[in-house]
Amino acid sequence: MALILGIESSCDETAVAVIDGAGTTLAARIVAQRVASQDEEHRPYGGVVPEIAARAHAETLAPMVGAVLQEAGLTLADMDAIAATAGPGLIGGVMVGLVTAKALAMAADKPLLAVNHLEGHALSARLAEPGLAFPYLLLLASGGHCQILEVRGLGQYRRLATTIDDALGEAFDKTAKILGLGFPGGPAVERMAREGDAKAVPLPRPLLGSAEPHFSFAGLKSAVMRAHDAGIHQTADIAASFQQAAIDCVIDRMRRALAAAGPATALVVAGGVAANAALRAALTALAEEAGLPLVAPPPKLCTDNAAMIGWAGAERLAAGLTDPLDVIARPRWPLDPDAEPVRGAGVKA
Ligand code: KG4
Ligand code: ZN
Repeated sequence: MALILGIESSCDETAVAVIDGAGTTLAARIVAQRVASQDEEHRPYGGVVPEIAARAHAETLAPMVGAVLQEAGLTLADMDAIAATAGPGLIGGVMVGLVTAKALAMAADKPLLAVNHLEGHALSARLAEPGLAFPYLLLLASGGHCQILEVRGLGQYRRLATTIDDALGEAFDKTAKILGLGFPGGPAVERMAREGDAKAVPLPRPLLGSAEPHFSFAGLKSAVMRAHDAGIHQTADIAASFQQAAIDCVIDRMRRALAAAGPATALVVAGGVAANAALRAALTALAEEAGLPLVAPPPKLCTDNAAMIGWAGAERLAAGLTDPLDVIARPRWPLDPDAEPVRGAGVKA
């Protein structure tokens, strides 16, 4: 057994997991895990409030570590290492998780693993699908990121595309806000879209067919606002039309990336938006067209969780990549530091 305690606190989910890195199936790998969402705390504000998030992590995390270890029937002394998200994310929350991990690592005299949250998402596919080998083509779509990456190995990423404005999850969240569907927005839009007609509202598909590789969703969001303000469309029809337009853009960008990328063993989707069933269906069709398997982790491993952090930690521990106790928390931490900056994308990691 290679037991890793994983901690995630970079946004609005507090999560802890015990991972067995030597497990050969997903079920054997996740020994125990918990996720506490802060939706109730943030709902009155219609979005994540960093200060509230950090305080909630501070309140929830330590007792959750105790509860998960107890559920696993293990103690801190049984762990081989302690892993925590060290960025990118809301810095207050990241610091709560990282400092907790440092304290546990120091108290129990265990190695510390400072995990990049995005690498957690990127490797969640290898947690879920034990046979998945490098290199693979990854669509990483969350609330803060929308990227296509060639995953060549542990810590080896080549970014093929990113967003020049909003992330895909952000577009879902803003659409939910415009349509009054509440928070969190992605699942609410998906539910509403099921009741609507995706052809009812004509919406733009930014950058569709463009020679440049990137994503753009800001124009789509503005069009959603105009469609809503016009007052002539059903909310469900706008939601369905938005979701279809966004998916059309993603598939177009992925098709372009497939042509530009090197050889790949699979098409992989990860990050919170990968929980969206319509997106998964469209990607399944694209993968078939490309003659590649689609690997999509179960929805619970797509949205933020600690199993993926523990798993990334397990992969790093196996490669000997431990971190010193003075490792810093990073609000920004790109997977491909050599990627060219793109116009308009300066604010996102
Ligand atoms: O990866 P994640 O849990 O947190 C970040 O690291 O950002 O992603 C959260 C994002 C949010 O924007 C949320 O609205 C979106 O993922 N999301 C969805 C769905 N579930 C979560 N978007 C569309 N459909 C869903 N079912
Ligand atoms: Zn995430």
